[in-house]
Amino acid sequence: MCDKCKGKFYITTPIYYPSDRLHIGHAYCTVATDTMARYKRMQGYDVMFLTGTDEHGQKIEDKAKEAGVTPQQFVDNIVTGDRGVLDLWKLMNISNDRFIRTTDDYHVEAIQKIFRKMYENGDIYKGAYKGKYCKPCESFWTESQLVDGKCPDCGREVEDAEEEAYFFRLSKYAGRVQDLLENTDFLEPRSRVNEMVNNFIKPGLEDLCVSRTSFSWGVPVDFDPGHVVYVWIDALFNYMTALGYMNDKYDDVEKFWPADVHFIGKEIVRFHAIIWPAMLMSMGLPLPKKVFGTGWLLLDGGKMSKSKGNVVDPYILSERFGVDALRFFLLRSFPFGSDGNFSNELLISTINVDLANDLGNLVSRTVAMAQKYFGEHLPAQQQGDLEKDAELVGMIENLRKAYEEQMEKYAFQNALAEIFKVISRANKYIDENAPWVLAKSEENKPRLARVLYNLLEAVRVCGGLLTPFMPDTAAEIAKRLGGAAMDWDSLGQYGLLSPEVATVAGPALFPRIDMDKELAELEALNKPAAPQEDPLPEPLPEIAFDEFAKVEMTVVKVLTCEKVKKSEKLLKFTLDDGTKEPRQILSGIAKFYAPEELVGKTLVAVTNLAPRKMMGQLSCGMLLSAERGDKLNLVMLDDKVPAGSRLV
Ligand code: ME8
Ligand code: MG
Repeated sequence: MCDKCKGKFYITTPIYYPSDRLHIGHAYCTVATDTMARYKRMQGYDVMFLTGTDEHGQKIEDKAKEAGVTPQQFVDNIVTGDRGVLDLWKLMNISNDRFIRTTDDYHVEAIQKIFRKMYENGDIYKGAYKGKYCKPCESFWTESQLVDGKCPDCGREVEDAEEEAYFFRLSKYAGRVQDLLENTDFLEPRSRVNEMVNNFIKPGLEDLCVSRTSFSWGVPVDFDPGHVVYVWIDALFNYMTALGYMNDKYDDVEKFWPADVHFIGKEIVRFHAIIWPAMLMSMGLPLPKKVFGTGWLLLDGGKMSKSKGNVVDPYILSERFGVDALRFFLLRSFPFGSDGNFSNELLISTINVDLANDLGNLVSRTVAMAQKYFGEHLPAQQQGDLEKDAELVGMIENLRKAYEEQMEKYAFQNALAEIFKVISRANKYIDENAPWVLAKSEENKPRLARVLYNLLEAVRVCGGLLTPFMPDTAAEIAKRLGGAAMDWDSLGQYGLLSPEVATVAGPALFPRIDMDKELAELEALNKPAAPQEDPLPEPLPEIAFDEFAKVEMTVVKVLTCEKVKKSEKLLKFTLDDGTKEPRQILSGIAKFYAPEELVGKTLVAVTNLAPRKMMGQLSCGMLLSAERGDKLNLVMLDDKVPAGSRLV
């Protein structure tokens, strides 16, 4: 190991599921991981930073079918295609050392060996997966996938069924995993521990189904054709196969395993904090030192998705605001372990306040004054002022330590806050010392030189510590300071800049953004494409008039209308059909209407349909509605038409 090396540091992101283009929420964890990797490299660690893509599973198989391509073509397009995952990480300056695709041959073969090993050691066994089967669709469903107890695809009855499958003895490791979670700091933030233990372990950890036969886009179980390995087993082991575990492609297991930290999103903590350690225990492998579950970026309070439009497209955001600004924003605005509300307003105001105003102004004012008052470089003769300089100088000297304390806890937001305290203090120092007043007399020049020197030192140390967050900006700042030293050692000290520092002028680092104008432009970009017309329904075969005349269609008035308990679809109506007896009809339109808005309305019902039971209640007839695509409108008549009128 080299003299300066502090040891190794292995950090990972989740490997992305390329079923869709990535949005800014996906970039969040990767930017954080990149920042941590850069920080550790700066400190002198030998870093391995892994990211990649998780390319198997039913969803990808389905999406590929829909798109009319093979699953491999489908994932290739999203991963390596134009503006794909690889392009995005390059654009965002992600410095990963390795990129794994779970469709890579070496990984597939390694997963087969791992699966076989766990089978041979008895932790994977063959059993039956109990569920429900829809005969017409030939589909196997779990209880929780059913909709109203019926097939989620066709809505028909399902029957009990068993599917042959392999299981992993997760139950066997429940105690050890619980101990790991409760008695070590394996999982952070600690608030996630209770959730895991109370929701998943205490109710009884069941063995995990780890093979599927209902689709084929996965790693084949090599000793049992027809079975593919459960995608999470395949995905989790990426962290080791990418180092060369069970394959010859790489040879870094010994050096880098166990991982120092897996950064992951909160919804996949269960897989990383329960299943992953249990499988490693089964394989007799060391456990990762830490799993850190981050929060989500929310959009309008809900989960982000690409269907919400361009506002979350990391390409568009990077192009409009710059990669560094976007990276900075993600880690400055939200505590890493909690959810945060993403908005364009917050993004723009963060750029304006922190970057344009505080940081940008400090750099440009300082450099501009140095050049204006001293030309090419500062004079060597400088005069300090203990009282006036002590606070700023002290803050510069202590910044690296305060920053490091936060970074070691993965508290990116707090680390940045430490830097911005010094930036604010430096801006205040300008006002306190009024260089423009000092510049008026020759005798104050040495003092003026020191004031500017102190400011340049503040810029150097702050800029240097921003390197992991904003690598390009930090390099630009170093350039403006005449190529100042910004390595880790020099960032821990005040006074390392040459007194005769020569500065370099340049344009504003972060031009101020006009909030209203920018929001309007983003809004325009986000206008959805013209809605597509739903296709016309298929025409029906011709019928004779007397067939049509058999249908009794009656004008009815809604007396009451309410939701049917336990059903998401059904509304229950009592209707005045002109007779004295109210008529009850159930209709599957709860998605389209609120019950209260229908009371009093004049509708049309087929009133000679044979009654039938739905959710245990009798429905005597059917309400007419007009349907096109996924839109539905009840047929409503003018309220003047009396109940009991017949449609002819
Ligand atoms: O989960 N805010 O892949 P994935 C913050 N393939 N993070 C978000 C987010 C948001 N709005 N949306 C998604 C998978 N993420 C698996 C991982 S690892 C062995 C396998 C995060 O593409 C999400 O929490 O669905 C997850 O950590 C990551 O993006 C990848 O999500
Ligand atoms: Mg996911």
